[in-house]
Amino acid sequence: MKAACVKDYQLIAKKKLPKFLFEYLDGGSYSEVTKHQNLKDLEALSLRQRVLRGSSNIDTKINLFGSTYNLPVALGPVGLAGMYARRGECQALRAAEKCGVPFSLSTVGVCSLDEVAKTSNKPFWFQLYMIKDRSFMVDLLTQAREAKCSALIFTVDMPVPGSRYRDYHSGLAGESWLSGNIKRFSQAMMKPSWALDVGLLGMPHKLGNVTPLLKKNSGLEDFMAWMGNNFDPTVTWKDIEFVRDNWDGPIILKGILDPEDARQAATMQVDGLIVSNHGGRQLDGVLSSVKCLPRIADVVGDQLDIMVDGGITSGLDVVRMLALGAKSVLLGRAWVYALAAKGQIGVEHVIDLIHKEMIVAMTLTGCHTLSDINEGVIDNLSNNP
Ligand SMILES: Cc1cc2nc3c(=O)[nH]c(=O)nc-3n(C[C@H](O)[C@H](O)[C@H](O)COP(=O)(O)O)c2cc1C
Repeated sequence: MKAACVKDYQLIAKKKLPKFLFEYLDGGSYSEVTKHQNLKDLEALSLRQRVLRGSSNIDTKINLFGSTYNLPVALGPVGLAGMYARRGECQALRAAEKCGVPFSLSTVGVCSLDEVAKTSNKPFWFQLYMIKDRSFMVDLLTQAREAKCSALIFTVDMPVPGSRYRDYHSGLAGESWLSGNIKRFSQAMMKPSWALDVGLLGMPHKLGNVTPLLKKNSGLEDFMAWMGNNFDPTVTWKDIEFVRDNWDGPIILKGILDPEDARQAATMQVDGLIVSNHGGRQLDGVLSSVKCLPRIADVVGDQLDIMVDGGITSGLDVVRMLALGAKSVLLGRAWVYALAAKGQIGVEHVIDLIHKEMIVAMTLTGCHTLSDINEGVIDNLSNNP
């Protein structure tokens, strides 16, 4: 199938990936209410069409944290990307660079900071979780500095991991070592192109950045267990100072949903925040990102750069988010479906699709530049989320 949109890439990814990997990528936590709400609330925002406005030179360029990008879209941090395509993080970085958007490397990427840095001379963003071992965090921040990362995303909505039922059903979680390995191996054998390209030629399958903390022959289940055991539930606002003391570049807090938290963030030495519910993978039942966005933009939009993610699958969604106060957005599953389906070329295609869709949406809402996009492009705002 030739992909025309993100949904097509989702279908191709489903066909290509072993079940446990597709479910890990596609799933949300608990009953997946928030995951679905992210998409539904965005869809429900009607755009206000304007015509005969002479928009020929649409400009989507944006300056974020001192660098200029071609559009207000970044590839957000997604763990285990190197399990979806061979050395997936490096392929995604190359795609992002070609399209002129930022790429964010997850703490729990398959490729390490060093491997990703060697892929390109251009800076990328690094995402960090609060990890119990603070000296290890300092080590990672030092490596990120050496890798010339230009911004740090500090994710604050994972003090404990939410439960994802799909991982239990697929064999990724809750299995003994033997039965988990048998299940996953047999699923992998049913997807021969993945088994060869990623399973065999894409090794090593480790979490590059945390490998030093694990035993030599650790497998996927050891890494999953590490993730479950090493995020720090004691994290408080005080720890933001610790991160600030060890990182002198821009800091972006990821996982803010409440205006009070946003206000608090604005009093800390951070530069931006990401309105995010982790793609509906943490606290199921919280509001969609698009519903949380306007009130956060209202209280701190003039002090911090506001970004948002959750359910964004098209350039129309990007325009909707910008209309409600975001300066830029991040893609999550959207870019990884494309990575799984077609590698670097797929990711480039998705970014290009989103760019083209943005231009159509801007033209037909009468916006020439990003600063023209405001709540006026949404019809009947009071009836919308
Ligand atoms: C498979 C998967 C892994 C993720 N890993 C991370 C991660 O390591 N760090 C992080 O801050 N967010 C992580 N996220 C959350 C994304 O950065 C982002 O917030 C979310 O995917 C946005 O929702 P969307 O997928 O609907 O666009 C992950 C999301 C998915 C789907």
